[in-house]
Amino acid sequence: MNYQGKRQETIGYDADRDRVWIIDQTRLPGEFVLCDLPDLTAAVRAIADMQVRGAPLIGATAAFGLALEMRRDPSDAALAAGAERLTGARPTAVNLAWAVARVVQHLTPLPPAERAAAALSLSQEICREDESLCSAIGDHGLPLIQAIAEKRDGPVNVLTHCNAGALATLDWGTATAPIYKAFDAGIDVHVWVDETRPRNQGGALTAWELGAHGVPHTVIVDNAGGHLMQHGLVDLCLVGTDRTVASGDVCNKIGTYLKALAAQDNNVPFYVCAPSPSIDWDLSDGLSDIPIEQRDGAEVSWVQGVDRQGQTSEVNVVAAGSAVRNDAFDVTPARLVTGLITERGICSASSEGLAGLFPDLARKAAAVGGAGP
Ligand code: MRU
Repeated sequence: MNYQGKRQETIGYDADRDRVWIIDQTRLPGEFVLCDLPDLTAAVRAIADMQVRGAPLIGATAAFGLALEMRRDPSDAALAAGAERLTGARPTAVNLAWAVARVVQHLTPLPPAERAAAALSLSQEICREDESLCSAIGDHGLPLIQAIAEKRDGPVNVLTHCNAGALATLDWGTATAPIYKAFDAGIDVHVWVDETRPRNQGGALTAWELGAHGVPHTVIVDNAGGHLMQHGLVDLCLVGTDRTVASGDVCNKIGTYLKALAAQDNNVPFYVCAPSPSIDWDLSDGLSDIPIEQRDGAEVSWVQGVDRQGQTSEVNVVAAGSAVRNDAFDVTPARLVTGLITERGICSASSEGLAGLFPDLARKAAAVGGAGP
């Protein structure tokens, strides 16, 4: 992602200052603010309060959180307690548990004195890996956009939901990676950005990063996608995932399922961009197995925005006294998904499709009693 003409990542370790920093995404789109994470508690809070969000980025943040905790106390007890606090911060995205388990497994055999440095370097490795997984997803998704562009005049219209963009990852994003690659290759591409209530990650974050990079886009209300598809204005849907299970069922931001239904009714291809750390090989039934995060109802009744004086503020949009409910994710059954775009290529959303691309991971899960193929 380019910001002010320079490449901008979402999290990092500044060796000169010896600090872990993040972009505070709760301040966007009004203000671009970098802030430091001094310790584990700050990392847990940043994840829970969504200063960082998006499945891959919360995984990377959790890894840094453990690295910070190992500086304070490198004991087994602190490692276990830190891991538990981090995984509990948000339950749905499997990347969080994946990153924590990877760090714990790496640190456990090490003498405590070596753990802080080892955790920091593993956190940086997880970041570099995420960038290359997302870039590969972009390479595999690009031909889908290219093929549409070759057959018609005018822009290729891609619809996306929430923010599965660079801001949800280290860079590139998952759903946006094919879009950035297409734009950078000179293809005429335009993005319909679902605003994504209640927190408006589409209008506030996806629109911000596409705008920063110069990609043409239009923000629409969440209910508009089906209407646009009926009128032939959507060529392709690209979304991300917080957890895709071994059967190919996809859990993503609330509202994704409705877009998949509308896409199927209108013969619009609906692809899910899924890096392997977002695949949960241990589960097979998306609807009954995946924990769906319930967030504070205040996110439904209070909307944050920038007022006419340029100040970030909140207003209430729900009648006083009305009950609110805030399920943060939903599950799109595999049968509604045209394909999964992974770092290893595109496959059907099915156990066979996934096991075909990832025989190593599927076999490993089956060997320890997971769902497998
Ligand atoms: O609640 P959020 O903002 O963390 O939800 C983000 C999404 O649903 C993204 O689509 C998902 O994490 C995929 S990230 C590349």
